[in-house]
Amino acid sequence: MSQPAFPTARPRRLRRTAALRRAVRETTLTPADLVAPLFVKEGLARPEPVASMPGVAQHTVASVRAEAAELVAAGVSTLLLFGVPARKDAEGREAWNPDGILQQAVRALREDHGEDVVVVTDTCLDEYTDHGHCGPLDAAGRVRNDEAIAGYARAAVSQADAGADVVAPSGMMDGQVAAIRSALDEAGHAEDTAIMSYCTKHASAFYGPFRDAAESAPAFGDRRSYQLDPANAAEGLREARADVAEGADLLLVKPAATYLDVVAGVKAATGMPLAAYHVSGEYAMVHAAAERGWLDGDAVMAETLTSIRRAGADLVITYAAGWMARRLAG
Ligand code: PBG
Repeated sequence: MSQPAFPTARPRRLRRTAALRRAVRETTLTPADLVAPLFVKEGLARPEPVASMPGVAQHTVASVRAEAAELVAAGVSTLLLFGVPARKDAEGREAWNPDGILQQAVRALREDHGEDVVVVTDTCLDEYTDHGHCGPLDAAGRVRNDEAIAGYARAAVSQADAGADVVAPSGMMDGQVAAIRSALDEAGHAEDTAIMSYCTKHASAFYGPFRDAAESAPAFGDRRSYQLDPANAAEGLREARADVAEGADLLLVKPAATYLDVVAGVKAATGMPLAAYHVSGEYAMVHAAAERGWLDGDAVMAETLTSIRRAGADLVITYAAGWMARRLAG
């Protein structure tokens, strides 16, 4: 073989050994980048596994404490809490009960870990309404936007009162960030409670298993009149900019793995701290394929979570957080 006339680029030189590959790796994934979603359900005697989400359970307050302790020991110190109440009604009133199940769990984790954990609470009403929609309905069965955000604001204040560091409105109602911010400020939480806004939450079929875990499937219809059309990315950027203008501290894109363009776009457009939610269906698919022996589930999960970081997410919300953190520790 003749020598090339000019030096030739040979990218493979840097792929030759594991140490070289490590040296030029662009994306890192560490336990501190991971956020673990946790479900706590009122009235449970013991934790109840969620069939469609291997390794995930609906927790009691006691078992969520134990699970959180394990996560913290593995280096996962950001926890996203969802409450599943015993009583549901048309307005979702239990969401702002100061002694509600979510508020109890927040207080317990605060007591156990003080400032060593970041407690994030889901601020929505679908787990609390008897019809499963993200806010109260009008006579035609449509969610009433301004009544919904008034409910989110009350829920956010009660979560902040219980000790949440970050509230995470996930309902995709117009003006939700502004309503929550002004309610938090009025309630004395101007300085201590941040908002992580689901700015681009798509009306996705990947939420199926979550609705089993959170018992929040809509009793009729779907969420397409409030969540984003999966075909839209530019609209998501407009939502993201609006949320920043309303006072969001962190943004969230969801789902993650099938929406990496949106992750990258929101990061580029806003420069804000960004979380991406690897959702229940994305998690379940990997487990289902692995169970059949069709995929190496561990490798696929790690690759997926790394790809979400590569696209521009600072935080990756995933049901595999504890597993991933332990794997990273070797
Ligand atoms: C709604 C909410 C949903 C998820 C988080 N918050 C579901 C929905 O919109 O029906 C989905 C999370 C997941 O699938 O893992 N408050």
